[in-house]
Amino acid sequence: MKIILPGGTGQIGRMLARAFAQDGHEVVVLSRSPVTDPAFRAVAWDARSLGGWTAELEGADAVINLAGRSVNCRYTPANRRLITESRVDSTRAVGLAIRQAVRPPRVWLQSSTATIYAHRYDAPNDELTGRMGDATTDTPDTWQFSLGVAKAWEQAAAEGGPLPHTRQVLLRTSIVMSPDAGGAFEVLLGLVRHGLGGRAGDGRQYVSWIHEHDFVGAVRRIIARDTLAGPVNLAAPCPLPNADFMRALREAWGRRLGLPAAGLVLEMGAWLMRTETELILKSRRVVPTRLLQDGYKFEFPDWPLAARELCGRWRATPARR
Ligand SMILES: NC(=O)c1ccc[n+]([C@@H]2O[C@H](COP(=O)([O-])OP(=O)(O)OC[C@H]3O[C@@H](n4cnc5c(N)ncnc54)[C@H](OP(=O)(O)O)[C@@H]3O)[C@@H](O)[C@H]2O)c1
Repeated sequence: MKIILPGGTGQIGRMLARAFAQDGHEVVVLSRSPVTDPAFRAVAWDARSLGGWTAELEGADAVINLAGRSVNCRYTPANRRLITESRVDSTRAVGLAIRQAVRPPRVWLQSSTATIYAHRYDAPNDELTGRMGDATTDTPDTWQFSLGVAKAWEQAAAEGGPLPHTRQVLLRTSIVMSPDAGGAFEVLLGLVRHGLGGRAGDGRQYVSWIHEHDFVGAVRRIIARDTLAGPVNLAAPCPLPNADFMRALREAWGRRLGLPAAGLVLEMGAWLMRTETELILKSRRVVPTRLLQDGYKFEFPDWPLAARELCGRWRATPARR
């Protein structure tokens, strides 16, 4: 297959590019900067407007748009604008390019986020019965902002109405766990290693996550199955409360205790790490009903197993020994 990855130079993009290259597919990454990688061919775009890059979409099998300024930052006015515009503008550009193609790609996988669902503890959110977040569930201003971004992102993908020849899938992705440097797993493990890996807040909020092998496996499945269209949750079937999540990570690493963080301490920690508490305090209780109904078998359905595997690979990386 020929697979195009707009914004494919980041954590998820490189994960997919490596896997697709190993499968023997042709991988083209659209990037705003010159980049070289044996796993893909890079083509320039500005993530906003149509240009020479649109030729790559002609006759392609799949487009997986991952472009967007990282949300792991302080939500200053300037960052808010970049977070929103980078997602909405790049999605519009990809959509327009697909509409204008003479031989449009077979499937468009558009990145979205599990953050689109309501903050809740009582029941899980899936694609069929899940509650969308709103002003009553997502109350702090930063939560409202993230929700607004998620909705604007999906609306941008829907602009122009249904595509006649291209199946569209919205990837409502939870936190992708891989041992790669700088990823969410490494940040959380860093807290555990430094004795700070206790619960965050009251620890009741659910953590939705997905192991990188399952993320790649689910994407392969979605590309292959013509029946999967619309929103698909990319999350392990067993989300768990933050307190249990952190306990399992401590056990996987071999540490019994971890200092909990709440209130002002948590806010100060987030400020020092140049991030927002929303990323850890919102209860993202999201489950992958559509993937399960389609028969996808998760390699890592449970966090304790995934945490042990990830810790093992993190430790085995020579630079970290
Ligand atoms: N990682 C996760 O756990 C997770 C979970 C849920 C959803 N997602 C979403 O999945 C997508 C990919 O995630 P990721 O972790 O691989 O992200 P990432 O590492 O931050 O990479 C995203 C890519 O977007 C491009 N980009 C950055 N700033 C941009 C801007 N201002 N305008 C246009 N493009 C910009 C960059 O490519 P160039 O610099 O090469 O152009 C970058 O490599 C993101 O949209 C993210 O929100 C990720």
